[in-house]
Amino acid sequence: MSRLVAPDDIETPIGYVDLARVRANARRVADYASKHGLTWRPHIKSHKSLAVARIQLAAGARGLTVATLREAEVMAGVTDDLLMAFPPVGTSKLDRLLALPERVDLKVALDSSRVLAPLADRAASSSRTVGVLVEVDMGLGRVGVQSPEELVALAREASDRRGVAFRGIMFYAGHIRMAQQEQGEHLAEVARRLATALDALERAGLRPEIVSGGSTPTLWQSHLVPGMTEIRSGSCIFFDREALAVGVAREEDLAYTVLATVVSTAVPGRAVVDAGTKALSRESRGGDVHSFLMLEGRGRTPWTG
Ligand SMILES: Cc1ncc(COP(=O)(O)O)c(C=O)c1O
Repeated sequence: MSRLVAPDDIETPIGYVDLARVRANARRVADYASKHGLTWRPHIKSHKSLAVARIQLAAGARGLTVATLREAEVMAGVTDDLLMAFPPVGTSKLDRLLALPERVDLKVALDSSRVLAPLADRAASSSRTVGVLVEVDMGLGRVGVQSPEELVALAREASDRRGVAFRGIMFYAGHIRMAQQEQGEHLAEVARRLATALDALERAGLRPEIVSGGSTPTLWQSHLVPGMTEIRSGSCIFFDREALAVGVAREEDLAYTVLATVVSTAVPGRAVVDAGTKALSRESRGGDVHSFLMLEGRGRTPWTG
């Protein structure tokens, strides 16, 4: 942003976090969740920072969501309530998972018996019980059981095995990234699939204590999916240009900026900065978000680069 100038003695590129905006974003999300009877268990992948996690917890977040063992080990330093939202596979990962402090109420999301069985055996051998959330595919097509029958079978196995306990279900509707006002039919489809899943569990006598969903593009419409008990919206802590494009954030909510320096203006009409895809990310955001740059005050007008 043009009003931010890196002091001469700071090497760029460097990330700049606006903590006042982080606090305001955390408060708004926590307030929204509590107004709708939801808890907020933010995914920490966007910040991986104890300082930011503390702000989320102080604002009212109920525990944290992580995707890697390293994230779990670090975040256990600030919370006793962790959801590992990625299937832990392999002896080394299971060993690290079971080495997390006993005080941590640990939950793991998974979608197959091949992940569940070794997890249960490893937990039982440590005399520990790990919570299981069965992941359900709601249309993203990445992970998740594909039918109510699979869901019930895996939930039942989690209830029956030593070392694990069935705690509920998890889904991530990461395919819903269109403008907020165009999300209605997609959210209705998620609501329909969730109702079918919950109905199947109820008929099988399996009670999900946790129904975990949510994302940042759908953040303020989470209440349109009945049955959820918690949202894991994560990148909303900083928001980003995709959030602007979707309409879930305003420019003044963006809390993370990369300070860069113009290093060449040799070619007329061009300014080259020291923050390209190697310093940032090659991840494309799709939609009308084509570059990393935004001219302050010019909203969505993209700069190529
Ligand atoms: C399983 C899961 N939950 C939650 C999130 C958070 O999504 P968002 O950053 O859109 O809030 C992600 C993001 O990748 C995810 O993979």
